[in-house]
Amino acid sequence: MKALPQIQASREHLVALRHDIHAHPELAFEERRTSDKVVAFLQSRGIETHRGLAGTGVVGVLRHGGGSRAIALRADMDALPVLEQNLFPHRSRHDGRMHACGHDGHTAMLLGAAEYLAAHPNFDGTVVFIFQPAEETDGGARVMIEEGLFERFPVDAVFGMHNWPGLPAGQFAVHGGPVMACADQFDILIKGHGAHAAMPHQGRDPLTAGAALVQALQTVVSRGLDPLDAAVLSITQFFAGGEAYNVIPAEARIGGTVRAFRPEVEDAIEAAMERHCAGIAAAHGVQATLDYRRGYPPTVNSAAEAETCRRVLVDLVGADNVRTDARPSMGAEDFAYMLREKPGCYVWIGNGLAEGGCMLHNPRYDFNDDILALGASYWARLVETLLQPA
Ligand code: NI
Repeated sequence: MKALPQIQASREHLVALRHDIHAHPELAFEERRTSDKVVAFLQSRGIETHRGLAGTGVVGVLRHGGGSRAIALRADMDALPVLEQNLFPHRSRHDGRMHACGHDGHTAMLLGAAEYLAAHPNFDGTVVFIFQPAEETDGGARVMIEEGLFERFPVDAVFGMHNWPGLPAGQFAVHGGPVMACADQFDILIKGHGAHAAMPHQGRDPLTAGAALVQALQTVVSRGLDPLDAAVLSITQFFAGGEAYNVIPAEARIGGTVRAFRPEVEDAIEAAMERHCAGIAAAHGVQATLDYRRGYPPTVNSAAEAETCRRVLVDLVGADNVRTDARPSMGAEDFAYMLREKPGCYVWIGNGLAEGGCMLHNPRYDFNDDILALGASYWARLVETLLQPA
């Protein structure tokens, strides 16, 4: 670990802060206690704070020198509806809510960086600290942008960081392009005609049509896309029928998710799904209606900013500890919305090996306290590099 000594010296209170947030998890757009903590911490270090964006969002602004350059650093604050199975003292005080994705650590790392930068302002320009609500489900980043985040706090670039179990502590991964996928959802309603199960010819069976559609949709990616375009279409729901064993139902519903790294691929998948729905429905004499909903867009780093982050990280932890060959994840991230507005880069910080179920969204997950000072040091060095005094 190669944290800056001044930040390493703050380790104990950053750990205490992280444990306090971990013990009091709050779900999307309900991060009131957490945002109170963030505001109190920033203000006690003399940092200007702004509240109200996306409800519980907090923005801190730190200016130094006369420079006009500005960058934003972003952390997420929300927890998940998970029942924590850990027994350590800082486990969740709220059954059914848990910081199972490490956003407690993300918040503490960004506060650690803010504290250091306020005390040691070795930069020229403006740093905007974004503490956003609702990363997990409701796109808090999107809401903050819609409510004027980048109009009120204009920046040249925006940066994000997520802990990554499986990547050793002390290491980072940087991607010069896509890093996380989109997360689209779909429902397909199949309308046939109900009938007696002994007389299927009197109805139009939505179940057999649905089964055929489930099979056919497996070819959307495998036969329809360029093999070099990564994508996945997973059907996760198939509902039909009721209590009776002798009734063919009138309707069936199929649901699932689509992941891809390029909007053009999302478009191609949606169009192919429409074709399959129409064709299978016609073959079976039923109606199939596709409701395809775009979720988080793909998270795509801009090349120049990714290269800057890589250089900062190599300076911080050495080239051996900076992975540039890590595969992107098919998971999704609402930082994508910020990267659609501004150039920037989202890096992964190693959380250590995922032993004992210490995986993201697992009830035994915990953020690794040993990386708090390191992550905060990355933020600090990024600011000192991008806003280097002339
Ligand atoms: Ni997360």
